[in-house]
Amino acid sequence: PRVTMLLRSTTISTAAALPVLTKLQLDCATPLPVLRHIADAMAADMRAGLAVDGGSDLKMILSYVDCLPTGNERGLFYALDLGGTNFRVLRTQLGGRDDRVIATEFEQVSIPQELMSGTSEELFDFIASALANFVKKEGGKFVLPNGRSRETGFTFSFPVKQTSIDSGILIKWTKGFSVSGTPGKDIVACLNEAMGRQGLDMRVSALVNDTVATLAGARYWDNDVLVAVILGTGTNACYVESVDAIPKLQGHKSSSGKTIINTEWGAFSNGLPLTVYDRAMDAESINPGEQLFEKTISGMYLGEIVRRVLVRMAETGSLFGKHIPQKLQTPFALGTPNISSMQQDTSEDLEAVGSILYEVTGVDSNLDARRMVVDVCDTIAKRGGRLAGAGIVGILQKMEEDSKGVVFGRRTVVAMDGGLYEHYPQYKRYLKEAVAELLGPELSSHVVIEHSKDGSGIGAALLAATNSIYEH
Ligand code: GLC
Repeated sequence: PRVTMLLRSTTISTAAALPVLTKLQLDCATPLPVLRHIADAMAADMRAGLAVDGGSDLKMILSYVDCLPTGNERGLFYALDLGGTNFRVLRTQLGGRDDRVIATEFEQVSIPQELMSGTSEELFDFIASALANFVKKEGGKFVLPNGRSRETGFTFSFPVKQTSIDSGILIKWTKGFSVSGTPGKDIVACLNEAMGRQGLDMRVSALVNDTVATLAGARYWDNDVLVAVILGTGTNACYVESVDAIPKLQGHKSSSGKTIINTEWGAFSNGLPLTVYDRAMDAESINPGEQLFEKTISGMYLGEIVRRVLVRMAETGSLFGKHIPQKLQTPFALGTPNISSMQQDTSEDLEAVGSILYEVTGVDSNLDARRMVVDVCDTIAKRGGRLAGAGIVGILQKMEEDSKGVVFGRRTVVAMDGGLYEHYPQYKRYLKEAVAELLGPELSSHVVIEHSKDGSGIGAALLAATNSIYEH
């Protein structure tokens, strides 16, 4: 890697950028009262969304998943996962209670940028062809009993109005997708048509959100999992709800008396501590005014917020010398993985910070500038992590209010997944600290916040098994 030059000269003073940092820290502050407000508002918005469709920012979508995996699932099942940056296909051979997961294989492809704003047919043809190639390569430990069609779970991580466990209509795209022709359409029908064009015989037996798949995947190993949260490109949470607590449900019968609700909490907006940078990013986004919680706490946006602050610091405080680096002015030039890497640098000269800044700006930086950049990253990660923590507490609080002891009277697991949570240690620490601050030592001793790695792939396959048309 290139060794960057540390500018030792004092000719470039970063002092003038300091007020920008100070103001940012003030605007992003999340002291306990702010967190408490977020948790309470989250709980209130959940109730309003359960009362009637359109009752709040939170859609509180019925998943039609009333029964979670038990461990008895057997057979060969597939999963497709279309979420953010990547598309994954997976097959798993399930061996029942004793053998559990006998074998799993998966393939991952990144979604070409142009498909994210192309047509629905193009996107689904891409998915179906990746799936068809994957199926062709089957062998080894994977066996499909004679006469059976292949069955798959389809994790589709966007807001979908489910009409049954295996059908649902896309409400709108999020996370930078703007594919034409899909909103308002049945997602499973789109996939089925594309599979037909590929000559692929496969039945979609469960259409689920990534949060729901993560909950199912985590529950397979641990009965105490009640909530699942994704913190990746986007963010969302789902949880186990009693059907009695869903006034808008009308007529939906659940044999277990429970059902999973996909909150779509990315759309939450009540009382968020927003800055001028957030507002400008939102205004210039493809979905202005929407997904504000997501834009404040999730991976797609944290790097971009930091970039906007750095541009401001370069303008007012000569952070990178006399000129504002051209490269830095490109939206999304700084990714969240970059800001996480910069925060991991413990070297004296902040060498890694220097290299990343060089990559993103094309200019060398001095130590003061590097330090200041790290402070900006920390401010944005801290706000994000703490707000995410408050959101989790909001959900737990709502569940506990409805039936005392359901959360805090026992061990309760919150299953977490997503690249942001997995690869940004400071973010994760801030999240956990906020949960502990809000709950206090006694209540937080019941809550386990646990990483459920790639639970969503296996979870979707498990839900395909649970909803299989064949006996199991
Ligand atoms: C976005 C989607 C949501 C998904 C989340 C995490 O918020 O709208 O459905 O669960 O991203 O991938």
